[in-house]
Amino acid sequence: MTKRITISQAAAFTGQRVEIPGWLYNLRKSGKIVFPILRDGTGMMQCVAMKNNLPEEKFEALKHLTQESSLIVTGVIREEARAASGFEMDVEDVQIIQKVSEEDPYPITPKEHGVDFLMDRRHLWLRSQRQHAIIRVRHEIIKATRDYFDNNGFTLVDTPIFTPAACEGTTTLFECNYFDDEKAYLTQSGQLYNEANAMAFGKVYCFGPTFRAEKSKTRRHLTEFWMVEPEMAWADLEDVKRVAEEFVIYVVGRVLDKKREELKVLERDTSKLELVQGPFVRMSYTDAVKNLQEHGSNIEWGSDFGGGDETILTQQFDRPMLVDRFPTAIKAFYMQPDPERPEVAMGVDVLAPEGYGEIIGGGQRIHDPELLLRRIKEHDLPQEAFDWYIDLRKYGTVPHGGFGMGIERCVAWICGLEHVRETIAFPRMLYRLRP
Ligand code: 4AD
Ligand code: MG
Repeated sequence: MTKRITISQAAAFTGQRVEIPGWLYNLRKSGKIVFPILRDGTGMMQCVAMKNNLPEEKFEALKHLTQESSLIVTGVIREEARAASGFEMDVEDVQIIQKVSEEDPYPITPKEHGVDFLMDRRHLWLRSQRQHAIIRVRHEIIKATRDYFDNNGFTLVDTPIFTPAACEGTTTLFECNYFDDEKAYLTQSGQLYNEANAMAFGKVYCFGPTFRAEKSKTRRHLTEFWMVEPEMAWADLEDVKRVAEEFVIYVVGRVLDKKREELKVLERDTSKLELVQGPFVRMSYTDAVKNLQEHGSNIEWGSDFGGGDETILTQQFDRPMLVDRFPTAIKAFYMQPDPERPEVAMGVDVLAPEGYGEIIGGGQRIHDPELLLRRIKEHDLPQEAFDWYIDLRKYGTVPHGGFGMGIERCVAWICGLEHVRETIAFPRMLYRLRP
């Protein structure tokens, strides 16, 4: 029996007869030779099929094969310096599994298509080289993320997706019917449960899908995104900043180390990523506002950055920025106010350079029970919903903190994409629930 291999394994089978199952990416014809380019998800390989080496009807079938038809080619792998993959196959046999109809051809051709056309065909678009590169970088980022926390004493403790109440504010929650008329909400962040887990385990992280019913149609917003959230007992704002910085450096380093080929496909300027080293730029919110005003923004102290503001800030530096001490009034109820300046909170955002902006948000949490209760009341939150959360401050409260990083924003930055829509296989956005 002929050994079945993938295109990525070709090097190990030079000179041997093997079979490779895949899809037809493209086909060139030149008289008595056809050059099918096969793709199999692991790579692309040009095959060389000569009329004399194949039964007549198989050669004819191959010659008229259509894009994305599924087939199994059998032949001998040969080193070929001119081929992109470094190898070619001399075809001896071909088995066509399905020929894509000529009347209804594969809709995505090498010509340029509009984004909406491609997004409507996302289930097919994923077969393209550029999408492969992005999804593989995403995979590496996720793997590096897990490795970073696993290797640094964090325990993975995942948090629920159905939740009974809000975490980051009620206006952006997706509501669903639970049982017996009880409402449940899709989680916006695992943080509150993470805090319970941190008091149980010390250092924890959760990593899962999160949901925001934000009616934002920007290049940075999805309604469903994946977030990794570390949380540490016995940690203050400075600890949170240190871990966030080290983590980002580690993730970028891993992608540079393992995914050079993919970054090349994406035409990413990797010299920009090489600059992602410590120390990151450190700036207070107050200084950031001054900086923005000097650069023409009309932001006033007290309001949140607009996306444009983050672009202005991050284009000035070639490293990520840690911006801290935002106005307490615009931050979540759980943020620890600065003891010396309670109008600002001990929160931090990490902004990615080159105009990308916020990829991480986090900070130190209130650990004092009275202060926490007061803040819950000031924010008009239903106290009974937070009874368990307040318990964490009654039974051995300690300073603690953590952060959340949205994977898609990180992927967009590292891949150099202009929009988050390509960073996940099936993006969910304000006007996009299909396919
Ligand atoms: O800044 P955010 O809202 O922070 C929190 O949710 C905290 N509870 C996290 C924590 O401290 N454990 O969100 C964190 C990150 C953002 O920096 C961004 O990367 C990502 O989540 N994010 C989004 N990504 C894509 N689409 C959206 N709509 C996003 N909203 C937030
Ligand atoms: Mg934020």
